[in-house]
Amino acid sequence: MKVLVIGSGGREHAICRKLKESPLVDKLLCAPGNAGIAEIAEIVPIKAMELDKITAYAKENAIDLVFVAPDDPLAAGLVDMLEAEGVKAFGPRKNAAIIEGSKAFSKEFMKRHGIPTAGYATFDEYGSARAYIEKAEDFPIVLKADGLALGKGVIICADRDSALKALDDMMLSKVFGGAGSTVVIEEFLTGREMTVLAFTDGKCVRCMPASQDHKKAYDGDKGLNTGGMGAFAPTPVYTAEIERETLENIVYPTIKGLNEEGRTFRGVIYFGLMATPKGVKVIEYNARFGDPETQVVLPLLDSDLMEIVLAVTEERLDSVDIRWKDGAALTVVAASGGYPENVIKGYPITLGEFSSDLILYHAGTAYKDGALVTNGGRVFALTALGKDIADARRKVYAEIDKISFKDMRYRKDIGIK
Ligand code: AMP
Ligand code: GLY
Repeated sequence: MKVLVIGSGGREHAICRKLKESPLVDKLLCAPGNAGIAEIAEIVPIKAMELDKITAYAKENAIDLVFVAPDDPLAAGLVDMLEAEGVKAFGPRKNAAIIEGSKAFSKEFMKRHGIPTAGYATFDEYGSARAYIEKAEDFPIVLKADGLALGKGVIICADRDSALKALDDMMLSKVFGGAGSTVVIEEFLTGREMTVLAFTDGKCVRCMPASQDHKKAYDGDKGLNTGGMGAFAPTPVYTAEIERETLENIVYPTIKGLNEEGRTFRGVIYFGLMATPKGVKVIEYNARFGDPETQVVLPLLDSDLMEIVLAVTEERLDSVDIRWKDGAALTVVAASGGYPENVIKGYPITLGEFSSDLILYHAGTAYKDGALVTNGGRVFALTALGKDIADARRKVYAEIDKISFKDMRYRKDIGIK
């Protein structure tokens, strides 16, 4: 099969590496990809949001399957466009991807189906949102821009003043553009966070090993939220008991609720969860693989990813056997100095030789005049497989300094907690 992957980050590099292993894949292409992906796939110079161009390319070049990895083209309906042209696509249609594309929708959806989540109120009018914050008694409080905002549209506000400021930024100054026209104001949850990714074709759901992201920019969970600075899997927080509760109260009701509403989900669904003292609650849904969770979960997959992908698109997921390796995986992101605020691109990169149980995923890299240079906030994710998390962590940190570029920064505490 000729398979085209859409996207350009570390997640897409991990997806491409896994698809490349499959005997079902004769030719792998990626649009627009990055310098690492270019080593294993043919690069198609079309950006992820050039939906018409992607659709035309897939049709003209007899692509057998398009794997849509990022959030924006899913929310914008790329899968629907491809299917309308008779091209097979992996990922949810627009009417299911809305569980990530609109936080107001996802909160109301959870309420309708009795799925545990933080208490909330939704506002599309500034005055009433302001009045709500002025009357609020419990802080911190969480403000969320309704739409997609590059993973940055969530602000945890320690007190009333910072909440009012965040509201002004979102609704008046429009720092997240149209994404902030509607704002969800949420109760602050405490507990241990975890990510559960699952393959689903709407009939069957198969969870992957639970992982733990590290969203804050700096060690000790300090600083701004980022796309994710490192991850590991499996997370010990996800015990057998928590797993049972998550499946019963969250995973199954979500898939069922989506079906009942005519929004059957086919693809990878992401459950961002908090194990709180009052049980497991949903922090957010995503309609896709997470980044950097994918860089730890897919290396643990011991089955053919392409076989699973095909089974999902053909609604026969229950017919495939999905196996996972023993042990653990851990990844650390090597980021540009100013990430997530001010990213300077174009710095030359030097790389050493890594041992064989390490995988270097490129995230924001490109070739400029034949030289490898930085091209984004998250530049690499270095993953190790180990017998446990501590072992994998030791391996990554022993070799991460073999990556080198100006102002490179990484967290030193991934997986320590
Ligand atoms: P999101 O972009 O929805 O993943 O949110 C980013 C991060 O903000 C999450 O991973 C959590 O760490 C944090 N967060 C979001 N909502 C809440 C909440 N209601 N309570 C506590 N933390 C939250
Ligand atoms: N790692 C969080 C996300 O992919 O949204």
